[in-house]
Amino acid sequence: MDSQFWIKAWKEGRTAFHQDKVHGKLVEFFSLLGAEGGQKILVPLCGKTKDLIWLQDQHLHVHGVELYEEAVKAFFTENNLSPVTVSKTPDFSEYKYRDIHICQGDFFKLQGPETFDLVYDRASLVALPESMRKDYAQVITRVLKKKGKYLLIVYDYDQSKMDGPPFSVKENEIYSLYEKAFSIKLLDMKPALQEGSRLSAMGDGIKQNVFLLEKK
Ligand SMILES: C[S@@+](CC[C@H](N)C(=O)[O-])C[C@H]1O[C@@H](n2cnc3c(N)ncnc32)[C@H](O)[C@@H]1O
Repeated sequence: MDSQFWIKAWKEGRTAFHQDKVHGKLVEFFSLLGAEGGQKILVPLCGKTKDLIWLQDQHLHVHGVELYEEAVKAFFTENNLSPVTVSKTPDFSEYKYRDIHICQGDFFKLQGPETFDLVYDRASLVALPESMRKDYAQVITRVLKKKGKYLLIVYDYDQSKMDGPPFSVKENEIYSLYEKAFSIKLLDMKPALQEGSRLSAMGDGIKQNVFLLEKK
């Protein structure tokens, strides 16, 4: 699943993952992150999600990472925000509006240890095939501070019934990716009813599972 896959999907309008409202599970479980004003939250593979705005409204410094530049620009224009370009390096162009920063570039090139207090992951880990998920988990583990909390929303379904993305990521895989560095708690497991017609057509056959992880 290389960058060309996603650029083509965006160009062809295959963006059913995008929601025009804040994600319900974020609102429902946000308090469990124990977020304090001024903390830095990472939103990997952020697309143009409105969740970035909601998180800023919770007094957080929000840091999205998205590879497709037009999606980053669309986030700001569709929400009537005028960003400034803060920096440009060979790997990332950083756009900023108030406390929302979006680094346009490849998530796997994110530098630095223990930069973020919190992570919010919806449709991000599940956007990647299994062969890439270990590297993804390693980046998350590296950039999150000790005791940092991570709200993770995944889908669980029979992968032979549908091609990803989104891919099915089962509970045992969450443990094998993260249990060395995190304590892990399953918060919620419900049919994925409001995640677009392709997924809701699977009815009870697809679950949306929410996990809270805390770095040891
Ligand atoms: C399924 S979408 C989810 C977007 C967002 N999390 C949401 O809830 O709407 C996955 C996004 O990840 C982006 N993406 C895929 N691979 C990436 C990478 N290596 N670095 C940064 N962004 C990436 C895609 O362009 C796409 O916008």
